[in-house]
Amino acid sequence: MRILVTGGAGYIGSHTLLQLLREQHDVLVFDNFSNSSPEALKRVKQLANADFEICEGDIQDAGRLDQVFGDFNPEAVIHFAGLKAVGESNEKPLEYYAQNVAGSIELLKVMQWHNCRRIVFSSSATVYGDAKYLPYDEHHPLQPANPYGRTKYFIEEIIRDWAASWKVASAVLLRYFNPVGADASGRIGEDPNGIPNNLVPYISQVAVGRLKHLNVFGADYDTRDGTGERDYIHVEDLARAHLAAIDFTATHTGCDAINVGTGRGATVLEMVNAFEKASGRSVPYQIGPRRDGDVARSLAAVEKAEHLLGWKAKLDIDDMCRSTWNWQSANPEGYRQD
Ligand code: NAD
Ligand code: UFG
Repeated sequence: MRILVTGGAGYIGSHTLLQLLREQHDVLVFDNFSNSSPEALKRVKQLANADFEICEGDIQDAGRLDQVFGDFNPEAVIHFAGLKAVGESNEKPLEYYAQNVAGSIELLKVMQWHNCRRIVFSSSATVYGDAKYLPYDEHHPLQPANPYGRTKYFIEEIIRDWAASWKVASAVLLRYFNPVGADASGRIGEDPNGIPNNLVPYISQVAVGRLKHLNVFGADYDTRDGTGERDYIHVEDLARAHLAAIDFTATHTGCDAINVGTGRGATVLEMVNAFEKASGRSVPYQIGPRRDGDVARSLAAVEKAEHLLGWKAKLDIDDMCRSTWNWQSANPEGYRQD
């Protein structure tokens, strides 16, 4: 099938791309490389031993999208492109609304011009906000607590209206929990710019010696050991969920929001221990104050994904830490080294 992948050079995009190519899909990557490197795409080509088209462009540019849709004529879109840093979104909300929300509107418009009716969108568990109950199921009230989360919420609503107005359209809103890990080859992985905001990239940079110690953001939460608990999902499992969602859009119309998690949680200190075991390195840490805006626990209800997509996570936190370490130890500076 011909699938256009926006943001395909990024962390989750590149892992999904690899699986799409292995399943013989015909793929085009549309990316402005604002947070990624063409090197990731080069490596995906090597790993899959397959070629695909790459178009540099911004999703806010309807003219460029129109041209690419005209040439490639995709049957479906997987839409990863967007900005994703919570802290930055508080400082530059308009940039987030322009790129994420306005960019998604341009994409949906151009899809309709070209009669492309199927979309899988990268949403986030952050749309739920403070937990009224756990695990979060897809009916949980939506109350995102920052501009980034609100862009995801608004895009979800826009896609829902788009699908309601165009009866043949089919949309899946995948609400990712905490994606971590890397391809087992160690050739592609997460490569954040600057000091990582997220736990697992931070831990792995401590283990490889780029950072001195982990700062644990609070040890006084109501959890097993007082540190924050999250539902970490291996990026390979997450990538597989996209293929299942694409299949689903072939036989369904309308719009469904679906959680992508494991249903199991790990605390910060449990992740530290798992990473030390996987890497054989020590990960020194210091307990500090809570980070503003963090919730104590986040856990996914996973039944809907299983029921609608026939998808279930297979990999556990040991697999996540092992694959992260493979990637980090072989590429201590990420994609910048070759
Ligand atoms: P990423 O930054 O690695 O990938 C995003 C890609 O989109 C990058 O290649 C970037 O260059 C590209 N891009 C950004 N703005 C663009 C624009 N205006 N036009 C064209 N390309 C653009 O991020 P990721 O971790 O792979 O996340 C992919 C998607 O999943 C994002 O939408 C993100 O919000 C969402 N998501 C990520 C997480 C996570 O923890 N990684 C969690 C929930 C949801
Ligand atoms: N943590 C630390 N030290 C760090 C980084 C994180 O102790 O240096 C802790 C956090 O306090 C939290 C846990 O590790 O308890 C996980 O933090 P992450 O930043 O890795 O993940 P979050 O759950 O806070 O946020 C992630 C994405 C957001 C997304 C959110 C919900 O980064 O973009 O999941 O989907 F909005």
